[in-house]
Amino acid sequence: MKPSIVSLLSVIISLLSISRATSAHIHENFLQCFYHQFPNSNSLSNVIYTPRNASYASVLQSSIRNQRFAKPTTPKPLVIVTPLQEAHIQVAIYCARENGMNFRVRSGGHDFEGLSYVSHAVPFVIIDLINFQSITIDVENSTAWVQSGATIGQLYYRIAEKSKTLGFSAGVCPTVGVGGHFSGGGFGMISRKYGIAADNVIDARLIDVNGRILDRKSMGEDLFWAIRGGGGASFGVILTWHIKLVPVPQIVTVFTVNKTLEQNATKLVHQWQYVADKVDNNLLIRIFIRRVNSSSQDGRRTIQASFVSLFLGGLDTLLPLMQESFPELGLAREDCIEMSWIESILYFADLSGEPLEVLLNRTSSIDQYFFKGKSDYAVEPISEDGLEQIWKEFIAAPVETFEFLFNPYGGRMSEISKIEIPFPHRYGTLYNIHYGLYWVEKGTSSYNKHMTWIRRFYNFMAPFVSKSPRSAYLNYRDLDLGENNKGNTSYAQASIWGLKYFGINFKRLAHVKTMVDPGNFFKNEQSIPIL
Ligand SMILES: Cc1cc2nc3c(=O)[nH]c(=O)nc-3n(C[C@H](O)[C@H](O)[C@H](O)COP(=O)(O)OP(=O)(O)OC[C@H]3O[C@@H](n4cnc5c(N)ncnc54)[C@H](O)[C@@H]3O)c2cc1C
Ligand SMILES: *[C@@H]1O[C@H](CO)[C@@H](O)[C@H](O)[C@H]1NC(C)=O
Ligand SMILES: *[C@@H]1O[C@H](CO)[C@@H](O)[C@H](O)[C@H]1NC(C)=O
Ligand SMILES: *[C@@H]1O[C@H](CO)[C@@H](O)[C@H](O)[C@H]1NC(C)=O
Ligand SMILES: *[C@@H]1O[C@H](CO)[C@@H](O)[C@H](O)[C@H]1NC(C)=O
Ligand SMILES: *[C@@H]1O[C@H](CO)[C@@H](O)[C@H](O)[C@H]1NC(C)=O
Ligand SMILES: *[C@@H]1O[C@H](CO)[C@@H](O)[C@H](O)[C@H]1NC(C)=O
Ligand SMILES: *[C@@H]1O[C@H](CO)[C@@H](O)[C@H](O)[C@H]1NC(C)=O
Repeated sequence: MKPSIVSLLSVIISLLSISRATSAHIHENFLQCFYHQFPNSNSLSNVIYTPRNASYASVLQSSIRNQRFAKPTTPKPLVIVTPLQEAHIQVAIYCARENGMNFRVRSGGHDFEGLSYVSHAVPFVIIDLINFQSITIDVENSTAWVQSGATIGQLYYRIAEKSKTLGFSAGVCPTVGVGGHFSGGGFGMISRKYGIAADNVIDARLIDVNGRILDRKSMGEDLFWAIRGGGGASFGVILTWHIKLVPVPQIVTVFTVNKTLEQNATKLVHQWQYVADKVDNNLLIRIFIRRVNSSSQDGRRTIQASFVSLFLGGLDTLLPLMQESFPELGLAREDCIEMSWIESILYFADLSGEPLEVLLNRTSSIDQYFFKGKSDYAVEPISEDGLEQIWKEFIAAPVETFEFLFNPYGGRMSEISKIEIPFPHRYGTLYNIHYGLYWVEKGTSSYNKHMTWIRRFYNFMAPFVSKSPRSAYLNYRDLDLGENNKGNTSYAQASIWGLKYFGINFKRLAHVKTMVDPGNFFKNEQSIPIL
């Protein structure tokens, strides 16, 4: 897989020999620059798309996972490149630099703010890694190479194809791309046992701003540190990850237990906060909080807490463990299902009963919604009174499809030091909160209504969550936290959001950025600033 030094040098030398483009038409210049490198342009059919190509719109649309960024008024790229070879990416970087174009990389397209394919700094080019999906599993060594355009569903599928006792620690939604997900963290159902995806990356290959292909050894430990949780987009184009697979038992146990307010949900959620981060690492219990119509109270609105859990082990071990650690939930044998780890992936993705091949499908029904997400961290339990205030606010919400999710940390998550990788939410963090608002009604007034409400709810939550900074999870990207403004890309400006995502690691990220991309070519609304 490694390029020879000779071919690397020849690319760099030929890049340098291209003359500076002069035409007024940037996109013509970009194309000329690109084609100049690949004189046999037949090999480029299905690589370059401009708005003049009939398939431009469908290629752009193919990985838009949020209708908020699929509007006619959403800024569109001048060029989309779907590279077939690494050299296509090297040349795209060079030609974008030559022409002063902003540059975006897209893997799965799940960025909450669409930063992988929307730029307000026009003109811009998108590198879409749709053709970089290969996955090689090494069972003997419990490792894998995963190209960054693959999805986590594909990865899980390929692991299970080779082994019933290996897995990987990453997210729940199978269509998420590994390019963004691993570089931004990657939390899932076995993270209390094994940490996040970025904790399990052992090598990576990337292309830097000068078109060089680097691996862990040649990029050095600072850059390798930065791309495991600091976001890939500030540092280069990640081509492939080398990851450590983790052991999973042949049989795991899952359960979902729903409780409404009438069924003591408040007490149970309150109690959960004292248990969920401390319980056995093999057990992860997350809670979805939803508003539902009560069946016992004449259809009046109530809150439902849905306790959704994975245990790395069998039912006969789980039941006594729950009896000892969280008896209040009253978990019964009938609530539990034993299955293989890969079947549990389907279960948590609401795909139970589907063939495993559904994990290879890159699209999902939620792509059709407008979506706005935000996040918080709880560092101390919320009191019962506090929970009741939150339920009241939620019940009165003038929006339909809102839910929030408590993801417990602790276990391996808090054993790893805060500075091991840029992801800082370790010891002292009880749980992460994800707020998700979905809607289908088009139009500005609907947009404003939904955006205003979720921002208000977020403000309302302030007293209950972490403070100074009010922390946030990079993979739940939120531009409300602050942007690198056109006129102000200063470290001070970026610190407003940078400290929330990265805590004490923000400064080191800026040092690495300054070292590897001093001209700030890889920039977006929330890219790491130059010092
Ligand atoms: C429905 C849904 C479910 C989710 N579930 C989870 C979950 O369970 N756990 C969790 O932790 N997170 C979850 N997330 C968040 C998810 O981890 C992030 O949105 C992640 O960044 C998406 O990665 P992507 O490749 O799909 O996105 P993209 O939009 O392609 O990329 C995200 C960011 O990474 C950059 N990037 C992408 N590829 C590369 C690359 N190869 N090199 C350099 N930079 C790159 C992009 O430019 C962009 O800035 C979920 C998101 C959604 C929408
Ligand atoms: C897009 O159009 C250009 C010519 O305008 C052509 O060279 C290229 O092959 C087209 N791309 C695709 C993917 O059809
Ligand atoms: C396992 O790793 C070792 C050392 O890196 C390597 O020599 C060996 O070929 C690997 N095994 C397989 C099956 O690839
Ligand atoms: C729990 O409630 C959700 C809706 O919030 C529903 O989809 C699910 O089927 C319920 N599960 C159980 C086991 O009752
Ligand atoms: C709620 O808790 C009380 C005591 O805390 C108990 O008496 C009651 O049976 C519980 N209700 C339900 C529906 O579990
Ligand atoms: C709940 O009730 C409201 C008002 O009666 C109704 O509009 C809504 O569709 C119901 N929701 C569900 C999930 O049944
Ligand atoms: C992939 O999933 C989407 C959304 O659920 C569905 O519409 C589509 O038919 C699926 N595609 C395949 C090939 O199964
Ligand atoms: C940029 O923003 C920071 C923080 O908001 C502020 O302190 C600084 O003065 C700003 N600089 C300029 C040039 O506006």
